[in-house]
Amino acid sequence: MTHIRGRFKKAADKKVAEYTSSLPFDWRLYPYDIAGSIAHARMLARQGIISAEDAEAIVKGLKEIKAEIDKGTFKFKTELEDIHMAIEARLMEKVGEAGGKLHTARSRNDQVALDMRLYAKEAIARTMAQIKGFQKALLAVAEANKTVAIPGYTHLQPAQPVLFAHHLLAYFEMFQRDVERFSDCLKRTDVMPLGSGALAGVSYNIDRESVAEELGFKQVSRNSMDAVSDRDFILEYEAAASICMMHLSRLAEELIIWTSAEFGFIELDEAYATGSSIMPQKKNPDVAELARGRTGRVYGNLMALLTVMKGLPLAYNRDMQEDKEGFFETVTTLLATLEVFTGMVATLKVNADNARRALERSYVLATDIADYLVKKGEAFRTAHGIVGKLVRYAISKGKSFHNLSLPEYKKFSSRFEEDVYNVTIEASLAARDVAGGTAPGQVAKALGVAKRVVGEA
Ligand code: ARG
Repeated sequence: MTHIRGRFKKAADKKVAEYTSSLPFDWRLYPYDIAGSIAHARMLARQGIISAEDAEAIVKGLKEIKAEIDKGTFKFKTELEDIHMAIEARLMEKVGEAGGKLHTARSRNDQVALDMRLYAKEAIARTMAQIKGFQKALLAVAEANKTVAIPGYTHLQPAQPVLFAHHLLAYFEMFQRDVERFSDCLKRTDVMPLGSGALAGVSYNIDRESVAEELGFKQVSRNSMDAVSDRDFILEYEAAASICMMHLSRLAEELIIWTSAEFGFIELDEAYATGSSIMPQKKNPDVAELARGRTGRVYGNLMALLTVMKGLPLAYNRDMQEDKEGFFETVTTLLATLEVFTGMVATLKVNADNARRALERSYVLATDIADYLVKKGEAFRTAHGIVGKLVRYAISKGKSFHNLSLPEYKKFSSRFEEDVYNVTIEASLAARDVAGGTAPGQVAKALGVAKRVVGEA
């Protein structure tokens, strides 16, 4: 790093170099850093700021460096402060004098902002694709189990029958909003900061638009001070990732509950379950549990960066180097979680018989029986009270609604007739024939819409 210590007589203390270096984690930025430098060098030559020969030497050198890092032969010198210096130092080794011209009309402040935006754009694209793949897996399971009913819960108490597909489609909606959030965050990430220099802009006749075009950016930043000190785009990704992980974590919780012996609504494929070191009977949903647990890290990274940013005066401050590890970890965690969830959901088996038994032993038809009385002329509040007493009685006799005799029903209301036995799980589902409801026709329609959304129909 000697070439940026012009004013100093001493080298940095070894511990200080270690403390301040971002190289152990920001090496990941190398493809973006090199792409940015190539575009910058070409523009400098087009504008006559450096010679075409120098630009050519720089571009050639940078391409070789990329190949070295790709292959793993590049030597990362720990005394270099960051990936930007590591690449520049190697370039000087390779092409000498010309390498020193690359940093004309540029600062590491706009350079790192560019690299992070390029990295974020790719992360957003991959995240959106991965969520879509996961949504397709949800739809396939929903489709394959179209007729399966399960108890729907509120307060984790059996509430009303719902189609299993309806329950999965609820998650489809959450993940669709996640896709939209990432897509929205892309609009603000897709801004090219080079030309902002250290903070005030640069004093050369550069062409920012052409650099933006070469690097595939939709627009250039409008204020140099903002461009070098804005990390909102990372916060937005981390916020969207936190919400998406929260959704995955809720689903994880359901899968954990559904695989329990007490519920037994689903069974995970063996490839997605783990055993216990002591209890041979165990088949544990560790993937779901770890996803639920890792959600904490993703939230933590959002909180960490919000805290880093909150007191920073304009423009660049070294604190901002702290944006990286958390961001990289969040991207890696979210992508990996989506990937394993896709496989786990795609391979799970639904146990329709267990779901049926759970429906029959709970009193999920209570609302429908109250509605039945309402249709016979009872006020809903009175009907609610009657059915409440009926449930209490049925529980005391250890009977389900269907095992109660008509005389038993009539003890609670003379309005009960033989047709009370028509109040079945199927009838209850079919009755919810409202847009967004769980009636089979509505769910089939919703499946069709969802398939169109992910481009499968
Ligand atoms: N490693 C630094 C970071 O990640 C790069 C920018 C350094 N700029 C500076 N003025 N020291 O933020």
